[in-house]
Amino acid sequence: MDFESIRKYWDDRASLDHTAQSTTQDVFLREIEARVLADAVRKYAVSTILDVGCGDARTTSRLASEFKDKHFSAFDYAQSMVTNSRATVEGLGLTNIELFQHDATKPFPVTGMDMAYTTRCLINLPGWDLQRQAIDNILSSLRQDGIYVMIENFVEGQSNFNALRTRFNLPEIAIRDHNLFFIQNQTEEYLSKYFSIEESTNISSTYYMVSRVIYSSICASQGTAPDYFDKHHELAAQLPFSGEYGPVRMLCLRKK
Ligand SMILES: C[S@@+](CC[C@H](N)C(=O)[O-])C[C@H]1O[C@@H](n2cnc3c(N)ncnc32)[C@H](O)[C@@H]1O
Repeated sequence: MDFESIRKYWDDRASLDHTAQSTTQDVFLREIEARVLADAVRKYAVSTILDVGCGDARTTSRLASEFKDKHFSAFDYAQSMVTNSRATVEGLGLTNIELFQHDATKPFPVTGMDMAYTTRCLINLPGWDLQRQAIDNILSSLRQDGIYVMIENFVEGQSNFNALRTRFNLPEIAIRDHNLFFIQNQTEEYLSKYFSIEESTNISSTYYMVSRVIYSSICASQGTAPDYFDKHHELAAQLPFSGEYGPVRMLCLRKK
């Protein structure tokens, strides 16, 4: 899919769905992401935080509710997502989030941030050139020594869990048409020119082994369709991270 078709996909999705599933069906994966981001806010003791591609701002709102003394900025290129974000933020009565519409491939209107993060945003850019451009913009938005927490999908973890699924006689799960997953070596080589990589953890491996292999096998044997709200998902999201069997990775990067 091309850039404008992907933007339209997200805009339409936000205007049609105002629920917790408007940006991802996998709501418990977002629980994991919110948890590791909260840990990063504490660990790096940051005060100004930017969410790039915030969707309906559920993750940022959660962080802003927990860290009332921090200031959050968040943007998305889909106007309907920004509209939904405003509703989320106003509904919670939060005053420490500034929301705006912006495209991550264009220079950001904010600079000097202590921390920026993406959660499955850059995989929606149709090309490594555009993905690098967005990474460069994130870099420019940070202060010296600022932190970029990159939570994005990688092909290696995707292939690994699909190989496991094959062993359990389950069909492979394809990467969606509007997504371009990162290649780990290529990405880390590029990032390490501008950032020191302080952490690189597969945060989806245990979760995917339980939800996409064990639970999927149980569903297959019972002839039922997997349910994203099933208890297996909820419980798997609380387990420690182990292995390389899921697509979503967190890299904690410090600007050089
Ligand atoms: C999978 S959703 C994730 C949303 C949010 N980060 C979350 O974790 O719930 C991807 C989001 O990235 C946004 N997005 C994709 N490309 C973007 C770009 N170039 N600039 C800004 N936002 C973008 C989409 O509109 C969508 O809201």
